[in-house]
This record gives sequence, structure tokens and C-alpha cells, in this order.
Amino acid sequence: MTGGAPGELLGLTDLAVHFTGRRNWRGRYPPPVRAVDGVTLAVGHRETLGLVGESGCGKSTLGNAVLRLVRPTAGQVRFDGRDVTAATGDELRVFRRNVQMIFQDPYSALNPKLKVGESVGEPLLAHGLADGEALGRQVNELLDLVGLPPERATRYPHEFSGGQRQRLVIARALALRPKLIVCDEPVSALDVSIRSQILNLLMEFQQRLGLSYLFISHDLSVVRHISHRVAVMYLGRVVELAPRDNLFREPLHPYTEALISAIPLPDPIQQRKRHRIILKGELPKPTAPPPGCPFHTRCPIAQPMCREKVPPLEEKRSGHWAACHLRN
Ligand SMILES: Nc1ncnc2c1ncn2[C@@H]1O[C@H](COP(=O)(O)OP(=O)(O)OP(=O)(O)O)[C@@H](O)[C@H]1O
Ligand SMILES: [Mg+2]
Repeated sequence: MTGGAPGELLGLTDLAVHFTGRRNWRGRYPPPVRAVDGVTLAVGHRETLGLVGESGCGKSTLGNAVLRLVRPTAGQVRFDGRDVTAATGDELRVFRRNVQMIFQDPYSALNPKLKVGESVGEPLLAHGLADGEALGRQVNELLDLVGLPPERATRYPHEFSGGQRQRLVIARALALRPKLIVCDEPVSALDVSIRSQILNLLMEFQQRLGLSYLFISHDLSVVRHISHRVAVMYLGRVVELAPRDNLFREPLHPYTEALISAIPLPDPIQQRKRHRIILKGELPKPTAPPPGCPFHTRCPIAQPMCREKVPPLEEKRSGHWAACHLRN
């Protein structure tokens, strides 16, 4: 499934987000930052799609475009069969109810001046879905759902640990019974010891509530733990997209190969034996992506044609897509 397939909950077609800077003193605009540069993807019902790639490759910008926090320069966003790219009014309100977000930093995600119960219940109040006693009851249920004692609803965020705050953020995201949650590095700021607790909690809710996740992380082992399918981004584009096990077993794109070869192995003997692919050169600037294949400047197997022609994202195996001229 890439776009428009049955079973699609979220669909992106040729999505682009280019940031244009301010005019300089000569009255000229700097070249735009091509943060997202033509992405076609879909997230199915009850599916977790992991999105990985190095810092600056456009993951958060893509998530923010889905959430309507940044405006796409081009392309289409569909949700539940409707084009929501330019939705306004009631349509936008429904979309905002159905699509929630969890970000990296649970410290700044909660208003320090509000009791946590107020923060968790805020979306219900804002959408006019509950108030008074009913609101209190629903907040208690939500806290219980994420494993926090309801009597702590009257406490303030600073009285909770990082992991507990992320549970509060999850409770708030679940308040409106969304269909999709965009999770942007949701465990990156947490201690390693509590990361799997939060990931398991998210997986449990997926089962129980039938949720879908667009799960953004730079950490491949986290993505491997939680995703059904994984999309690999490089310089604003998806270079590989496959079911999780296929991607890790047989990565087709040389960039994915390099990323996977850099995951530390738990066994030190295996770790010493393994071949790590070190990428040469620096990540090119998204203001001036290389012509042809965006990865050719760092690719260990690049050929002259890679400098000239952009490789399309092609289905090389059933359900396994890659954008590489040389891998079939
Ligand atoms: N509002 C903005 N204005 C201009 N450039 C931006 C803006 N937001 C992001 N960028 C640029 O767009 C590119 C993609 O950034 P983005 O934050 O989406 O990457 P990312 O993959 O989420 O990185 P990280 O792993 O560090 O979170 C970067 O070059 C970034 O500097
Ligand atoms: Mg980011």
C-alpha cells in the first residue's frame, strides 16, 4: 500500500513542504528548504507506520504537515477517504478530533500551571464533549487507562516523573478517541528503562482502541519494536518502504543498509564481527539537494547514472518499495 489503497486511513500523495526564508538586504530570497519533497505514503487502519531517518531529513515537518501545523507547498493529505489538505470549518474540527499528537518532550507538552486532570480533560472541554461531573469521570477513566491513580488528577506536572508525564500526554491524546496519533519521538526524552513501558502501552492501546500511529523516530530499534511497516526518509523523500521484518531482513536501499548496520548488537562477539557501513561525506543541505538520486553523494555503490536520474520509489518485491537504480 502506498497511496489510495483500500484500508487506508491516512494517505499522502506527492506531499511537499518547502520553507521559504526572508528576503535579504538585496531583496532576494534565499533558496527554499526542501524539508519534505514529494512523499507518497499511506497508513492503514490499526497500523503503525514507522518513519525513520537522520536528523533534518524532514520527519517532523512531515508529521506537522499531517497535523495541519504547517501548510504543504504541494500535494494532498487524505483522511478516512476525504481530501483534508485544505479542510476548514466543521471538516477541520472533525479531523482535529480524529488525529491527535504526542511529541518528544512531555515537560513542555503539559501546562505547568494547570492541574494534570485539567490538562487531560482540556480537549473534551474544548470540543464541548463533557463538562462538570461527566468531565471528572472521564478524566479519571483516562488516568486509569494509562496506569495512573485517578486521585492524582489534582496534582501539577512537576510532581510527576518523565515517564508519568508522557502517560499524561497519552491520556490527553486519547481523550477524544482519535483514529490516528502522530507520535514524534515519543520516547526519545525518556530513560531507556521506561521506554519500552511507554511503547508497550501504545501497542496495547492500538489493540484495544483500534488506533493507527504514524510513529516518527531517529532510533531504528524503537521503530523496529513498534512498527508494522517502516518508511525510511532521506533529504525529504521516502527512499524505502516495507513491512518491518522485510526491511530489517533484506534492506534494498544502500542508505537503509547503512542505518541498519549502525544499530548496536547486544552480543559483543557479534558486534565485533559485523560489518558496519560508514557513510562518507556530510548530509547535503536541504536547500541544495544533489541532482539525480539524493543519496548518490554518499552512496557506496553509486554509478554515473545515479547523478543524473532521480530513481522513482518502485515496488521491487511485493509490498517492498525502494528508490534505487541499482537494486532490483
Ligand atoms: N519552520 C522552519 N523554517 C525553515 N526551515 C525549517 C523549519 N522547520 C524545519 N526546517 C528545516 O527543515 C529540515 C527538516 O527538519 P525536520 O525538523 O522536519 O527534520 P527531522 O527529520 O524531524 O529532524 P530531527 O530528527 O532532528 O527531529 C531541516 O533542514 C530543518 O532545518
Ligand atoms: Mg524531528
